[in-house]
Amino acid sequence: MELRQVAVPLADRPYTIHVGSGALARLGELVQPATEGQSAAVVADETTGALFGGRVADSLERGGWRCRLLTVPPGEASKTLAVAEHLWAALADAGMDRVSVVFALGGGVIGDLAGFVAATYMRGIDFVTVPTTLLAQVDSSVGGKVGVDLPQAKNLVGAFHQPRAVVVDPDTLTSLPDRHFAAGLGEVVKHAAIADANLFDTLGREADRVRARQTSLLGDIVARNGEIKASVVSRDPEERSGLRAVLNYGHTVGHAIERGARAWELLHGEAVAVGMIAEAKVAARLGLSDAEVPAQLEALLLRLGVRTSLAGTEVNVDLAVRALRTDKKIVVGALALPVVAAIGSVEMTNAVSVDELVREVESLAE
Ligand SMILES: NC(=O)c1ccc[n+]([C@@H]2O[C@H](COP(=O)([O-])OP(=O)(O)OC[C@H]3O[C@@H](n4cnc5c(N)ncnc54)[C@H](O)[C@@H]3O)[C@@H](O)[C@H]2O)c1
Ligand SMILES: [Zn+2]
Repeated sequence: MELRQVAVPLADRPYTIHVGSGALARLGELVQPATEGQSAAVVADETTGALFGGRVADSLERGGWRCRLLTVPPGEASKTLAVAEHLWAALADAGMDRVSVVFALGGGVIGDLAGFVAATYMRGIDFVTVPTTLLAQVDSSVGGKVGVDLPQAKNLVGAFHQPRAVVVDPDTLTSLPDRHFAAGLGEVVKHAAIADANLFDTLGREADRVRARQTSLLGDIVARNGEIKASVVSRDPEERSGLRAVLNYGHTVGHAIERGARAWELLHGEAVAVGMIAEAKVAARLGLSDAEVPAQLEALLLRLGVRTSLAGTEVNVDLAVRALRTDKKIVVGALALPVVAAIGSVEMTNAVSVDELVREVESLAE
């Protein structure tokens, strides 16, 4: 089957996202032009290793690679320095050198962890992401942010380390648990809301086929999301100019309620979905957007099966509000907030006070 190629035009390190059904079986040939090495460490979690490790190893070995599969337990709990240390040691024991390549086979946890290991082993070796969750395919695998969690906070230690290539096989999504699939759709809707009204309409029209995980449609959606993220990231690769901040739509409130929820009660993409609606309501109330944006977002998310409220989830409002008030982006009581003025277009504003957002979070949790 024909694969789609999306260019990520970074000035010093451009790379390609390859998307399409059957891409996993062609991994070896796809990454060959982008890397020098011939020895591969495939980092996976136990689930993605069992599901896809064999197919990936076959494909790499057919391409002439020597291949070692390293697995860690699934879940956020593996995104730690202790697990990174275990992987560094495993790379050393396997004789991996400066031209070896780390392949991240899994969701965002594996991408962040394996990318961090690749960024630091021997002061940085190449890595390739092979994302297998929708969230990782449309979001975390592109952009070069890698890292691990500390007990103090998530993603506190990390680096920017751009992959050499991203290879996405939408067939992998067939086995993804429903809740993780829906959470990934939260980020898809975010990309559509900030950048592509057509995609927003398509998602609404094709919601049933999306929910049925029709592979070719998912491939189109992933490729379009890659283009959107790539166009933002390539203008601000290391989050210096502020341009990249538009990707944080829904994330100010989203992060706050994530902090207030008990671990695992709220997935990141679910929090972003609820956060987008909340931020959109505040913006509409202040006249910063079309009045109908919150309802448009809510209707699409519902149609796609993404949760739109905190009903049934216990959220500690004090913790959430504290997270909001100590947001690193706050300058004199206001923060730079992305606002979708109309579906498909986003701008940054300082016109929303933290108090407005706090009121909205309090009403969410009622
Ligand atoms: N680097 C970035 O820019 C960025 C952006 C967003 C999120 N993240 C990070 O991503 C992480 C969350 O990623 P995630 O939601 O992908 O979680 P995850 O990596 O934990 O994957 C979710 C679960 O799905 C399983 N799984 C993965 N692929 C599967 C498949 N195809 N079939 C069946 N099961 C499968 C995994 O084993 C895991 O249990 C967080 O740590 C977050 O901080 C990073
Ligand atoms: Zn996100």
